[in-house]
Amino acid sequence: MARQARGQDIIRMEVGEPVFELPPRVAEAARSAVDGDHKGYTSSLGIPPLRQAIADFYRHRYAVDLDPERVVVTTGSSAALGMVCDLLLNPGDRLLLTDPGYPCNANFVRRCDALPARIPVDAENHYQPTPSAVASHWQQGTRALLVASPSNPTGDVLDAAAITGLNECVRARDGWLIVDEIYHGLCYTDGGLSTALACGEDIIVINSFSKYFAMPGWRLGWMVLPETAIPPVRLMTQNFFISPPAIAQHAALAAFHPESLAEFDARRETLRQRRDFLVPALRELGFTISHFPPGAFYVYAGIDGLADDCEDLCWQLLDQAGVSVTPGTDFGNHRAHRHVRFSYTAEPLPRLKEAVRRLAGVLGKPIPTDART
Ligand SMILES: Cc1ncc(COP(=O)(O)O)c(C=O)c1O
Repeated sequence: MARQARGQDIIRMEVGEPVFELPPRVAEAARSAVDGDHKGYTSSLGIPPLRQAIADFYRHRYAVDLDPERVVVTTGSSAALGMVCDLLLNPGDRLLLTDPGYPCNANFVRRCDALPARIPVDAENHYQPTPSAVASHWQQGTRALLVASPSNPTGDVLDAAAITGLNECVRARDGWLIVDEIYHGLCYTDGGLSTALACGEDIIVINSFSKYFAMPGWRLGWMVLPETAIPPVRLMTQNFFISPPAIAQHAALAAFHPESLAEFDARRETLRQRRDFLVPALRELGFTISHFPPGAFYVYAGIDGLADDCEDLCWQLLDQAGVSVTPGTDFGNHRAHRHVRFSYTAEPLPRLKEAVRRLAGVLGKPIPTDART
């Protein structure tokens, strides 16, 4: 960003936030909320119409019947992740996470004086944990497993059978399964993904308006909790946040209008085209990508044969090609030095082609065919 501010042309492939226009109905709802009388705090669990709209969304999209009383609207999914850790973890407890995984999760755990315990995941299991890996990492004091589907940084998913298997494993140990579905809606396989809510009422599901809904700066997310968890979480939201942002909640209501949803869904095709260009082009440049990532907007690529260290490579690509990419070391320890993450959400296809041409120059490779025009 600093380089961009100095006028350098940087192709942004490190960012994890979508850059799309607000659907007209969402923009209009936000303007009306500003003009209307929405200056005050709201109910700490979120405005009832938004909790209802979220429950309706699960019914229409996933055929899951959900009591809106189980929905808690939060200040981004970050607030939800933090409160779930506060809810489940005592000092000295352990929470299982994937390595690689979303880096902030370990800090939510540490904030509770608990221990993030990482399960290494690899391409052969599509970067998701298996029940046997969970069983072997479960120790005394382990309270929960947190997974993301689709995941950051790999874009890999868990289908209903995989979620059910993980939940059975966790349940048998009196633990909790938390599924971060913040990239739901951004899945490029036919038929989309089923929500973890369809696999058990005891599963804690977290989601957000930041990715599929492309409203990251509005700081709004939600979680769906078992009924018994609502009173303690209400206490936390009242104390920690008072309420989620009022204007954002009124804007978000309009995000569930069929016209807005159609616009979000259409973007998936745009993202799919970017992914379908990028994966083969990066492979031609020598990056190792075992399979097409089915979701999110990331490609987690191996750098064996291209460089010894991901951070050196990222600096080189930034300095010499003006392309910014995230080092694997941001996402954990397991073979992290041997990977980088490319994001394809912030730049349109012609800019991604330009990025690939620049990378080819720096890496001394021929320009991949699809990047030539
Ligand atoms: C997997 C995952 N979970 C949670 C978050 C937090 O997002 P937000 O607080 O904007 O909902 C992110 C952000 O990139 C993420 O990648």
